[in-house]
Amino acid sequence: MSTRGYGEDKTNTDSAELIEIEGDLDTDLEIPDRGNILIISKDQSYLTHGIHKFPAKFFPELPRYLIQKYSEVGQSVLDPMCGSGTVVLEAILNNRVGIGIDIDSIARLITKVKTTPIDNETLKNAVDSLNQQIVLLSKSDEYTPSLPEFHYRDNWFRPFVLKELAIIKDSIKSIGQSHQISNWNDVSDFFHVVMSSIIRDVSNADPHCTRTVLRKKVTKKISPGDTLERFSQRLDRQSEEMKKFSQVVNELQVKNVILPTSTALETGLDAGSIDLAVTSPPYINAVDYPRTHQLEMYWLGLLGDGPLSKVKRKYIGTETVYKDEYRELKVSGLNTLDPVLKQIFKRDPRRAFITYKFFDDMKSQFQEMMRVLKPGSRYCVTIGNNLIREVRVRSHEILVEIAESSVGFELEKQFFSKLIRHFIRIPRKERMQGEWVLIFRKPS
Ligand SMILES: C[S@@+](CC[C@H](N)C(=O)[O-])C[C@H]1O[C@@H](n2cnc3c(N)ncnc32)[C@H](O)[C@@H]1O
Repeated sequence: MSTRGYGEDKTNTDSAELIEIEGDLDTDLEIPDRGNILIISKDQSYLTHGIHKFPAKFFPELPRYLIQKYSEVGQSVLDPMCGSGTVVLEAILNNRVGIGIDIDSIARLITKVKTTPIDNETLKNAVDSLNQQIVLLSKSDEYTPSLPEFHYRDNWFRPFVLKELAIIKDSIKSIGQSHQISNWNDVSDFFHVVMSSIIRDVSNADPHCTRTVLRKKVTKKISPGDTLERFSQRLDRQSEEMKKFSQVVNELQVKNVILPTSTALETGLDAGSIDLAVTSPPYINAVDYPRTHQLEMYWLGLLGDGPLSKVKRKYIGTETVYKDEYRELKVSGLNTLDPVLKQIFKRDPRRAFITYKFFDDMKSQFQEMMRVLKPGSRYCVTIGNNLIREVRVRSHEILVEIAESSVGFELEKQFFSKLIRHFIRIPRKERMQGEWVLIFRKPS
């Protein structure tokens, strides 16, 4: 294990030469320790990768490189916080067994759809039936749309948008009942994810903000008929991608995807069973996942009856914390973290606790990965640094200290991956310039 002076400034890679890569990274490429890379992605919509937006989604090229470099054909690749499933899809496309876990129900649904092939004939027939049913309901005078009930529904959507979304949803349900469609669950999930992918665009929510918010100034131009038109275009495009994906899957040597319903802290996987784990954890202070997808979750019926806050507390990086928890300063015993917690606490005790809790959960996460990984195998984690109440939080250094000194991983290499982000709109000062890629190894 290396003996590093935790807390020293190890973040400066400005002097390192920038390796700029367009498209795929060659597996022979040895990115130097503390090197700097910029990936210009060409594959963000390749096959099913583009089926749904997701905050802080990986460019496929980075996990593809890590999978090819650190695992072999037939081995298992786990993403314990898989989001929209980029790692899982890349794992199966590279003939590995892809395992994806996420606490978030919409993330799980997107991952399932992205990685589940549907044969061309079945999909074509189902799409034709769906399109016919949509036309039928749109023209019917007797049709009463079944609208989901949720707070401020009529502020989030214009009346004609509500009706058109209901037509899509009701048409999916109706063809499931009236037609004999094989693998109906998979087809229905595919249709619902395509529908979900247009919901934010046709809502009144600010399109530039990851959180779902209404702003007085944002006046989107959405006309009657636009919602159905967008759905039809997305369905055409994604059906084409699904067709190509299914053809690729047919030719794979390894056809295995495992999507357990568990969490990153308690995966339920067997000890010593995993060959490689690759993940990008949530950011502290940046993305509130349930709130980001609340409109989609209402429409898909993915929010249980309980309050959103109950669900939110279980997410790593949660901002749903109680006053009793942050009245007093919590410290971690980590050299890299405690001075930062003290500074944040002076400005904002609640934020200090949120930061503390994030790293405490990440420690449990590393312990779980230490348990499930095979000896000698890697855990690749990407993480950006943050500015919280004007205090710089060097998250990657803190994670390195946790993983090495508290959990027993060895840091093999770290490099900086510069990012060009479009979907995330967080305050300019807090926007990350890129992410650290940390390659840990479980000792043999
Ligand atoms: C940055 S996103 C991952 C994005 C992903 N790499 C992709 O390409 O789409 C982080 C994910 O961590 C998930 N997450 C948060 N807390 C979790 C937990 N306790 N267990 C599993 N997943 C969790 C969030 O729901 C979110 O989907």
